[in-house]
Amino acid sequence: MLNYIVYYSFSQSEISSSELEGILRKAREWNEAHEITGLLIYRFNKVFRRGNFLQIIEGPKKSILSAWERISNDPRHHTITVLEDGQFQDRNFSAWSMGLKNLNTETLNEVPGFININNDEFWSNPNNLKPTALELLKKFYDMG
Ligand SMILES: Cc1cc2nc3c(=O)[nH]c(=O)nc-3n(C[C@H](O)[C@H](O)[C@H](O)COP(=O)(O)O)c2cc1C
Repeated sequence: MLNYIVYYSFSQSEISSSELEGILRKAREWNEAHEITGLLIYRFNKVFRRGNFLQIIEGPKKSILSAWERISNDPRHHTITVLEDGQFQDRNFSAWSMGLKNLNTETLNEVPGFININNDEFWSNPNNLKPTALELLKKFYDMG
C-alpha cells in the first residue's frame, strides 16, 4: 500500500520559472531518494495576484510524512489546503519523481472534461478543485 496526499495552496508571491526549477530540482532529488512520485501544477492567479499550486505526492507512509513536513514548512506557501489523502494499491505517477505542469507557459486551450482550467475564479476556491483534483492531476500525467 502507498500513501498519498493531494493539496492545494496559494503562494506568497508570483513564482518565476527559475524559482520553479529550483523547487523541482530539490524535490526530485529528495523524492527519488525516498521513493516518492507525483506531479505539481503551477498557475498564476490574477484575482489574488498569487500563484496556485496543486500537487500530489505518493509513496511509502514514512516518506510521505517527511515530504509533507518539508512541503508544508516551505515559506513560499501562503495558504495550504489538503484536498485529499489516502492509500493507493499501485502508483499513479510512477514515471515522475516530480512532474511539473506550468499552466502559464503552456498553451492550454482546453483539457477534456475540465472546462474551467483557465478560469481564475475556479482556481480561487479549493472547494471547486476538491471533487476532481486527483482526476485532473491524472489527466495531466496521461497527457505526458
Ligand atoms: C510547491 C512546492 C512543492 C514542493 N515539493 C516538494 C517535494 O515534492 N518533495 C520535497 O522533498 N520537497 C518539496 N518542496 C520543498 C522544497 O523543495 C524545499 O526546498 C525543501 O523543503 C527545503 O529543503 P532544504 O532544507 O534541503 O533546503 C516543495 C516546495 C514547494 C514550494
